[in-house]
Amino acid sequence: MAISVKDRVVVITGGAGEIGSVLARRLVEEGAAVVIADIADGRELAAELKKAKRGNKVIYVKADVTSEKDMAKLAATTLKNFGRIDVLINNAGLFTGTPFDELTYAEWQKRMKVNVDGVFLATKAVVPAMTEQGEGKIINIGSDTVWMGTPGMAHYVTSKAAVLGLTRELANELGPRGITTVYVTPTLLDTPGTRAAFQQAHFDYVQSHTPIGQLETPEDIAGLIVFLCSPEARFVNGSAINIGGGISMH
Ligand SMILES: NC(=O)c1ccc[n+]([C@@H]2O[C@H](COP(=O)([O-])OP(=O)(O)OC[C@H]3O[C@@H](n4cnc5c(N)ncnc54)[C@H](O)[C@@H]3O)[C@@H](O)[C@H]2O)c1
Repeated sequence: MAISVKDRVVVITGGAGEIGSVLARRLVEEGAAVVIADIADGRELAAELKKAKRGNKVIYVKADVTSEKDMAKLAATTLKNFGRIDVLINNAGLFTGTPFDELTYAEWQKRMKVNVDGVFLATKAVVPAMTEQGEGKIINIGSDTVWMGTPGMAHYVTSKAAVLGLTRELANELGPRGITTVYVTPTLLDTPGTRAAFQQAHFDYVQSHTPIGQLETPEDIAGLIVFLCSPEARFVNGSAINIGGGISMH
């Protein structure tokens, strides 16, 4: 049987961002109903995707993952439009680095708020619907930095490691209800956003330590995400899946 996400209802937080928009585009092309949730404006993206071959099922919801109220609205709007929530992709996140000596408590807290609290609040909001359905998938976009402990990113590494722990906990606690949770770890991607945030030396290091010998792009992640959104990934639970060309082999 072919892997299919046709009519699967997928909510993507940070859906207007560099990875999120690529995932949204691919999932729409594959026939999924996609909810783009972001604090950034995703109206243009949603309008563009609606014109895609099977893209009549895409909406944008302005929503802040750190707001309990916004997350409740996100779940309610998804249910109102599509009647169910099959998949939540916890993708919204802040990824820039700051050396430990310069890292302030305020920046640390902000990182935890978006990258950890945001995952908690979005997940809390969709679990009741998934419980009622008797099935659901939570996909947490993590980072291979949790295996490597990248210097200059204490707040980021810690936030992503927290979500790895949450993934394993939810796999155990929600698994019996048919809700499965997975953690996906890309490596440093080659995007305008990362180019603006990191020095060339960082990219050179990643490329030279990646057996494939190339830098990763958001498109490289999309196929795995399509599979994880499909019913065929039903038994993938509590896993951390590396998708970084082999730079880390945890
Ligand atoms: N870019 C990389 O190299 C890389 C590597 C590994 C993992 N990741 C992870 O992938 C995810 C997406 O990263 P990206 O590269 O697309 O970054 P990005 O900055 O392009 O996208 C992140 C999106 O999240 C949104 N966002 C930020 N705070 C939010 C909030 N409070 N509520 C709702 N939306 C919010 C932003 O508006 C943005 O659209 C992040 O979790 C990041 O940590 C990125």
